[in-house]
Amino acid sequence: MDLLRAATTQARPRYGAIIYPESGIPLPVNDSTELEIGFGNGEYTVQCARMNPDTLYYGVEVSQACVLRCARRAEGLDNLRLINTDARYMLRELFADESFRRIIMQFPCPWSKNADAHRRVTAKDFADGLAAVLKVGGVFEMLTDDEPYAHEVRSVLGGHEALRAEDFEVNPIREITTKYERKWLAEGRNIYRVTFRKCAKFTAQRRVSQEMHIKIQSAITHEAVESLRNTEGHGEKSFWKFGRTFTDGDIYLLETLTSDDEFEQKFYIHIAPHGEGSLLRLDKTAKAFLTPAVRSALSDAAQRLS
Ligand SMILES: C[S@@+](CC[C@H](N)C(=O)[O-])C[C@H]1O[C@@H](n2cnc3c(N)ncnc32)[C@H](O)[C@@H]1O
Repeated sequence: MDLLRAATTQARPRYGAIIYPESGIPLPVNDSTELEIGFGNGEYTVQCARMNPDTLYYGVEVSQACVLRCARRAEGLDNLRLINTDARYMLRELFADESFRRIIMQFPCPWSKNADAHRRVTAKDFADGLAAVLKVGGVFEMLTDDEPYAHEVRSVLGGHEALRAEDFEVNPIREITTKYERKWLAEGRNIYRVTFRKCAKFTAQRRVSQEMHIKIQSAITHEAVESLRNTEGHGEKSFWKFGRTFTDGDIYLLETLTSDDEFEQKFYIHIAPHGEGSLLRLDKTAKAFLTPAVRSALSDAAQRLS
């Protein structure tokens, strides 16, 4: 299986702070865990973690380059965990309800076009995720240089059944600042900080499940797996497409791309003999979260091979 392993093992950087939580969710927290979403170069979270060694910090950032930069900065810290993923989709999947006493988001893109409304902090899905993973009594802070956006966030999140809008501050004095904050202040722009407190219990439905394998009656041939190449399918908010096949004897790996509401993953479906038939499951080396699109891709491959 060495060739197959080589084909599927993704090059993953070895920095202590970066974690790959695909098989171990929800992630562990303690009484004083905090989270930064979209940490950029990571100065803020790294400095917080250095100043408060008894607090456990998580950072979720969609840009891999930013995660690497922050991980270099975080060398030697053991109270900071960085995750390279899309918080918009994954926040509620990675963490259980009542995980954080504080969540901070600093200078997110306001996504001002209507077509991008689903990406905003104010989108219902994201707001529900935030409200679920905050502890009752915990706070969410959002900083922006965009005044209308600050008001919109205050009004929409403040109307959430589990969140109460608290402070609305202009140019708050902060002990630790971020790159974007310094940039906007140097340009003479105002900075707005909007704070919310979770005031009631709240939960949000999780979409990622832990395990799935499908047995089919048919024995698999190379031609059958190859015939899946470039076939695709879609659901209401999901899309999947099959690509190349890797083989070693009677075991196959089928390259698969999926998208759930623009949350994209690339992984391999592992197909092996099982009794008289075959068994399909996610290959364990190419890690993926079992989202609705991934489950649909597995079912679709099984159906086409049956
Ligand atoms: C304008 S930068 C601000 C960076 C940093 N907070 C600062 O103040 O310097 C916004 C950051 O959010 C990240 N980001 C955007 N959408 C995200 C998402 N859905 N999940 C996680 N991070 C995201 C971007 O990659 C970028 O690093």
